[in-house]
Amino acid sequence: MQDPSDYIQQHKERFLNELINLLKIPSVSADSAHSQDVINTAEAVAAALSEAGCDEVEVCETSGYPIVYGEKIIGADLPTVLVYGHYDVQPPDPLELWDTPPFEPVIKETELHPEGAIFARGACDDKGQMYMHVKALEYMVRNNDLPCNVKFMIEGEEEVGSPSLVTFVKENREKLKNDIILISDTGMIAADVPSITTGLRGLSYVEVAVTGPNRDLHSGLYGGAVANPINILAKMIASLHDENNHITIPGFYDKVHELSEEERQAMAEAPFSLEAYKKHLDISAVYGEKGYTTNERNSIRPTLDVNGIWGGYTGEGAKTVIPSKAYAKISMRLVPDQDWHEITELFTRHFISIAPDGVKVEVTPHHGGQAYVTPIDHIGYRAASEAYETTFGKTPIPQRSGGSIPIVSLFEQELDSKTILMGFGLDSDAIHSPNEHYGIRNYLKGIETIPYFYSAFTRMKESE
Ligand code: BES
Ligand code: MN
Ligand code: MN
Repeated sequence: MQDPSDYIQQHKERFLNELINLLKIPSVSADSAHSQDVINTAEAVAAALSEAGCDEVEVCETSGYPIVYGEKIIGADLPTVLVYGHYDVQPPDPLELWDTPPFEPVIKETELHPEGAIFARGACDDKGQMYMHVKALEYMVRNNDLPCNVKFMIEGEEEVGSPSLVTFVKENREKLKNDIILISDTGMIAADVPSITTGLRGLSYVEVAVTGPNRDLHSGLYGGAVANPINILAKMIASLHDENNHITIPGFYDKVHELSEEERQAMAEAPFSLEAYKKHLDISAVYGEKGYTTNERNSIRPTLDVNGIWGGYTGEGAKTVIPSKAYAKISMRLVPDQDWHEITELFTRHFISIAPDGVKVEVTPHHGGQAYVTPIDHIGYRAASEAYETTFGKTPIPQRSGGSIPIVSLFEQELDSKTILMGFGLDSDAIHSPNEHYGIRNYLKGIETIPYFYSAFTRMKESE
């Protein structure tokens, strides 16, 4: 195949401007106030796919937000790559912590991105990374360099647990038939250290409510005599970890796949500076499960974290009150071979069992998914590795990530295909945080690397 870099340089400004326009639409799937924006983004993605060279493009209605499907089929006997991505974004809150408004993209230089980075919600997760695939397709189609068939499936509900995609995949197995699934929605070790994500954690997300008295009470008249749901909730949550930071839910670790010493050794060889990690987060020490390194804690070990906690009076000044209710949102990151339904069940049973008399506890499951791993001897992995080697001049390092894309394990189950996670984001890109950004160099490198994957994968598949 030809080298895409000249084409990319020539069209760089347009590639950036198109992404900037997509980032201006606040496609926040969690917030119904933005529902029209989410729908408009689906239309914009569909138009971009047509423009880039897809022959068939559909905005598929679901019971939630639409799924954008596009394809370019050039030969029935050729391999097919299915690209998955998402056009929805996380809520931008807290707004006051953004240096520039989240939906008014700007390019700024940073220490890690001397060539500039685009600052906007969704810049890296996942509009920027998803759009690399659209532009890579444009390059391949316009330069007669598309070696195989391609299908796109871009959803608008990833950040809320992909509720409609499950049905869509089950109902469209034939349409979505492929030889490999390709996703850019993860990260890499550093801008000059390419890596391929070989694993994702699973997830169980629940909301808990603790109810005490039937109404808010004067904390002087009743304080000390009835259970305060916030005090109780805090105590219950604190008891979910022991002094070694192991999770105390009975049965929680029963199915956890332990890594061999060799696998742990290999993980430890990936470049990582604990000092830089702490400095970047402005913390004096890391914290976590005893017996595991930081990189193990955040990828191969399961966790339990409170994502939000509320109740009582949080307005200005003081109000003396014992609230009737307290709430928390809790996520558990899971690893192979934990089953998320089973973990949700174990959590629920345990959490209810530790409630003292005098309060009622409710657990409401939100969403979840299974963990996922890609073996490094799979041809999809080998093709990706070759692609990175060509554009970075280095062999990429396999790395398991702590994040979750719950739908990936469903793809394996329903479509019987493996997923290759070619992520180009950096951990410092602040996804889900204020000031999310995506390096221009990462964006362009992604567009350059993707066509090499197509070419290597087609060659390897045909000689299989
Ligand atoms: N792209 C992320 C997941 C991710 C990021 C994986 C970086 C690996 C490295 C995805 O959009 C995401 O945020 N997933 C959610 C789960 C979802 C069900 C809301 C997550 O991991 O919290
Ligand atoms: Mn994402
Ligand atoms: Mn995300």
